[in-house]
Amino acid sequence: MAPACANIRWQHGCVERAQRQSLLKQKGCVVWITGLSGSGKSTVACALDHALARMGKLCYVLDGDNVRHGLCKDLGFSSSDREENIRRVGEVAKLFADAGVVALVSCISPYRRDREFVRGLVGKGEFVEVYMNVPLSICEKRDCKGLYKLARAGVIKGFTGIDDPYEVSEMPEVTLEATDEAGELLTPECMADSVVAFLAQ
Ligand code: PPS
Repeated sequence: MAPACANIRWQHGCVERAQRQSLLKQKGCVVWITGLSGSGKSTVACALDHALARMGKLCYVLDGDNVRHGLCKDLGFSSSDREENIRRVGEVAKLFADAGVVALVSCISPYRRDREFVRGLVGKGEFVEVYMNVPLSICEKRDCKGLYKLARAGVIKGFTGIDDPYEVSEMPEVTLEATDEAGELLTPECMADSVVAFLAQ
């Protein structure tokens, strides 16, 4: 059987990427925030969205929970479903970046190979991986959604960090710690500033 894309050709657009960039006065890219449930990915994405908006930069947040209400509503949390989830979100983020928008993705994206896959979808330097280095003990203590409790009780199976792995990034562009050197919790705004500083480079 012929592959699904056998009779499909790429249709080139009429407006160049560079033109879109000059209209928006910015370059699109993908900021991929990864980490355990409860590590603060969505909160940091939101703070980053605000910080960049104040600087006149157009962003769009693709949040794991939200895309699972629509684009990925048919997917669960098996490893193959998570792989497909990340692939779809990665493809959408790529389109946003191509449109000139800063795509702020907050997905657990627990498997290293899936994160490497989405990195490969965009050009060199257009993918910024932000790793939320927040220990499981802190995430579990927060348990904002009560999901860790359910996972520990065996009600939720295959929960990341409990009975499904989170593979730590080897070389993320940015690592965000939960606390400063004095052990004080860092605010989401402070974490967002670290990402803004990286992007400014
Ligand atoms: S993934 O692994 O990247 O495909 O996950 P993601 O799309 O980011 O969705 C994570 C949110 O789904 C909720 N949830 C679970 N997380 C992990 N494991 C299991 N089994 C699970 N079941 C439901 C949870 O609310 C996650 O949201 P966050 O914001 O990370 O807490």
